[in-house]
Amino acid sequence: MFPIIAQIPKAELHVHLEGTLEPEMMLNKASKNGVALPYRSVNDVRKAYRFSDLQSFLDLYYLGVSSMVDKNDFYDLAMAYFKKASSQNVRRAEVFFDPQAHTRRGIDFSTVINGLHDAAIDAQDKYEISIGLIMSFLRDLPEESAMRTLEEALQYKKWIIGVGLDSKELGNPPEKFINVFKRARDEGLMAVAHAGEEGPAEYVWSAIKLLKVSRIDHGYHIFDDDRLSLKVSQERIPLTTCPLSALRLNHIVPLNSFPIRNMIEHGFVPTINSDDPAYFGGYINENYMALGTELGLTLDEIIILAKNSVFASFMSYEKKRDMYEEIDMTLMELIENERRIS
Ligand code: HPA
Ligand code: ZN
Repeated sequence: MFPIIAQIPKAELHVHLEGTLEPEMMLNKASKNGVALPYRSVNDVRKAYRFSDLQSFLDLYYLGVSSMVDKNDFYDLAMAYFKKASSQNVRRAEVFFDPQAHTRRGIDFSTVINGLHDAAIDAQDKYEISIGLIMSFLRDLPEESAMRTLEEALQYKKWIIGVGLDSKELGNPPEKFINVFKRARDEGLMAVAHAGEEGPAEYVWSAIKLLKVSRIDHGYHIFDDDRLSLKVSQERIPLTTCPLSALRLNHIVPLNSFPIRNMIEHGFVPTINSDDPAYFGGYINENYMALGTELGLTLDEIIILAKNSVFASFMSYEKKRDMYEEIDMTLMELIENERRIS
């Protein structure tokens, strides 16, 4: 099982670039930019990463983000993630960024998007990876702020594949963002949203019905509602689940209760993702591995999860077909190699 996890080509569809900020880079950038952080060492930073819930994580996430100031900072952040992802055989990455986490502290939108876009271009040149940027709105801010952000982003529309919705879920239901999501979809952008992470099943209903999202990010509370479960499975609306994130934020504890096998058996389309790997103790392969170890995932289940990530991505039909084929070839080669050795 373990070689297949590392070797299988896969897509990552739920990762926040700001959540890939490793403590070393955070401290370097803070020191370069003269930003005061309450940490003196990498060890201090890691010690602070004990979360009780989503909000306790978000507090440290936004603090960490404050170390990033210029275009190079955003470039370095994204490039480090693309390099790491590529080393884990991620061939397609659809990554979130949170412009309002920067513009609200005085950083220009253009600084953020130029740094991230340049990194995406260079990474696609240098590594075997294709990249899509998803601009996420902070749901604890008003819709007007999201709309201003979208209007500013539209001049860079060709650099963005879609919009998302993240940050504090409880008390900030999807219906707050109907207008901005409609405007984004009318402009040809795809829509996804975090829903049912800490919020109730009703938030997933409204993300689907009112925001018309193509995927649900997390979605753990879908299973509280039988009618919703039926809809999500029958319509094959993909779920971007994040095992180590769910564990560390106390959404699903212990990890061996993570319902991935149930989802597969009941016709859902779950995918495995890292969410905020620098904070939750692992990139995508560590997430596959943690579930693999805890649940004893079979080879078939791992292949299904990798294929789900291709199905759920926003790649073209042709690229999806090529990647399915590549997954099957990787599996075949692995099995033949093992036979030769034994
Ligand atoms: N949930 C909500 N908002 C976030 C997350 C998350 O897991 N990561 C970064 N912003
Ligand atoms: Zn997330």
